[in-house]
Amino acid sequence: MIYLDNAATGGRKPDSVKKAVNDTLSRLCANPGHSGHRLSETAAEAVFDVRSKIKKMVGATSETEVCFTQNCTHAINVVLSGVLNSRDHVIISSLEHNAVLRPLNYLKLRNNVEFDVAEVYDTDDELTVRRIEKLINKNTKLVLLTAASNVTGKRLPLRSVGELCRRNGIMFAVDGAQGVGVLPLDMNVMNIDYLCIAPHKGLYAPMGVGVLVARKNIDNILISGGTGSDSANPYQPEELPERIESGTVNLPGIIGCGAGIDFVNSLGCEKIYKHEIDLCKELYRELVKMGAELYSCAPDMYRYAPLVSFNLKGYGSDEVGNYLSKQGIAVRSGLHCAPLAHKSIGTLDRGTVRVSPSVYNSENDIKKLIFLIKRLI
Ligand code: ALA
Repeated sequence: MIYLDNAATGGRKPDSVKKAVNDTLSRLCANPGHSGHRLSETAAEAVFDVRSKIKKMVGATSETEVCFTQNCTHAINVVLSGVLNSRDHVIISSLEHNAVLRPLNYLKLRNNVEFDVAEVYDTDDELTVRRIEKLINKNTKLVLLTAASNVTGKRLPLRSVGELCRRNGIMFAVDGAQGVGVLPLDMNVMNIDYLCIAPHKGLYAPMGVGVLVARKNIDNILISGGTGSDSANPYQPEELPERIESGTVNLPGIIGCGAGIDFVNSLGCEKIYKHEIDLCKELYRELVKMGAELYSCAPDMYRYAPLVSFNLKGYGSDEVGNYLSKQGIAVRSGLHCAPLAHKSIGTLDRGTVRVSPSVYNSENDIKKLIFLIKRLI
């Protein structure tokens, strides 16, 4: 199968990641930080080592800011529930995923949290920033933006919004699911307080591990329990990462994530990004020639994450997705869990066909895809 659905999850993991997971299960199966014996300490050191790698990669300040969660959605929930109280106001963008929209809707229903959606302009970042600015009110506590849309690939102007948040004393959170490992993201430079990461995508890690890099504290906790620290305390420790890491962490996943980061660093994020965008450019050019419906400008490294969404006249997106699947090509079709984004590009009724390459895809994969699309229409 030619796998071109890497925005959903990295379809091929490096051998080094598989080996790291296997070695952990074979030789390091101890509970990191929960017991005092040598194997437990070695496991805790290995986890710390991965925190360090993440810290360096995203421009965090300390390893203690790097908290492991179940996945990126969990990390986003931890932030939203963690910092928002009754009457607090949040601004999100029109490209946000259900991972943001659904928890916010529940917080609105149950806790009277208020939120507004700022329109994103595909070709005018300044206008997008002005829209966000206009929505700020005296109760605005948080702005949460995706690093890039999982539907159109559009990158959000994080640096300008980070600066806007800093000037207004508002916290800034970023859903980095489609960003970390590919797009240049620096929490320090972009003034990001909370960065949520999906390591199984751009970091080539196994599923089942998420990361929240939190530069500010989390007040309200989603779950509490054993942290292996401060055990006589009947309540959760105040300090991160323990405050949100209750129970046993996913050690094989975390160590696999460390190996994935090494893999990405050995190639370089920029090189990976360029390779994937070049493949998207080639596909986009051919789709234009075929008269396909496209939902963004031509892919480039400044404005888009490496993915292309399209539709073919006379075909439903699922019809195209199923056809390609039967021909041995995996893409995602339909709605990509981001109804706001589909609404803003006018595809809420039919979704899109989405192609998202990884570093493992080649020009030949795209040629084969183009050949099959031509044969269909
Ligand atoms: N959010 C993931 C995607 O876009 C699952 O496919």
